[in-house]
Amino acid sequence: MAAEVSRLARAKINLALHVTGRRGDGYHLLDSLVCFAEVGDVIRVARAEDLSLKVTGPMGAGLTAGEDNLVLRAARLMPSAAIVLEKHLPLASGIGGGSADAAATLLALAELHGVPLPEAGAVLGLGADVPVCLAGSPARMRGIGEDLTPVTLPPAHLVLVNPGFGISTPEVFRALTSRENPPLAGIPRFVDVAALAAWLARTRNDLEPAALRLRPGISEVLAALTAQEGCLLARMSGSGATCFGLFAEAEAAKSAALSLTRPGWWVRAAALS
Ligand code: C5P
Repeated sequence: MAAEVSRLARAKINLALHVTGRRGDGYHLLDSLVCFAEVGDVIRVARAEDLSLKVTGPMGAGLTAGEDNLVLRAARLMPSAAIVLEKHLPLASGIGGGSADAAATLLALAELHGVPLPEAGAVLGLGADVPVCLAGSPARMRGIGEDLTPVTLPPAHLVLVNPGFGISTPEVFRALTSRENPPLAGIPRFVDVAALAAWLARTRNDLEPAALRLRPGISEVLAALTAQEGCLLARMSGSGATCFGLFAEAEAAKSAALSLTRPGWWVRAAALS
């Protein structure tokens, strides 16, 4: 068995996100097409008697290794280890950084110790996006996040842009004016990225209007992405504020990312996965 394991906790992207209802406990029912981008935080775990967490990386400053840290909550479900979280993704940004970190922690610790993953209820208890991050491949996500159907997506590239401010997920859900929207139409097998973009154009992120009301600055990001050559679709991911542009070619995504440089903006081009 390995003495140390490291994993990339990839950014989660909601290509489409429909809010279809609300449960009695206040959680919202979603119907979302989720994929990942080949950019993320890094989780390293090593054998140790006691559980510990050290946070490093360019985005690590805003994050405390306190009791509510999702990595620690995930780690408590597994045998102990010394954990390092190298934070590269912006915090509270709609691309599932905390959920991806929790899922990567579970996978790394399962490998390190040769033990099974926790049961589904415990995984969901860490956060609604943790099950899909654990699955780690494109999926239609329903319920509050527990009902996953694998989906095949064509090769594609994403440009992620975060305007440099966070936004609170509960606040965005509270700001919704409509909670009973139609679900996604059936997801076909897309022949190419143009077919995916055409299908996505008939879907929405129902959280986007609410987030835009709370943080009008997001519209600047969407407009800047839309104006890029080769951008087939621009939309906000999750509860924001990170937005994505969908591209067919890696080169087009890279040059869009270069021309999207603005003070305070976090911009990355990455393959969809
Ligand atoms: O599960 P997670 O901790 O990621 O959710 C954060 C908050 O977002 C929840 O407390 C809830 O207010 C809101 N939420 C929701 N419906 C979901 C997911 C999250 O209302 N499906």
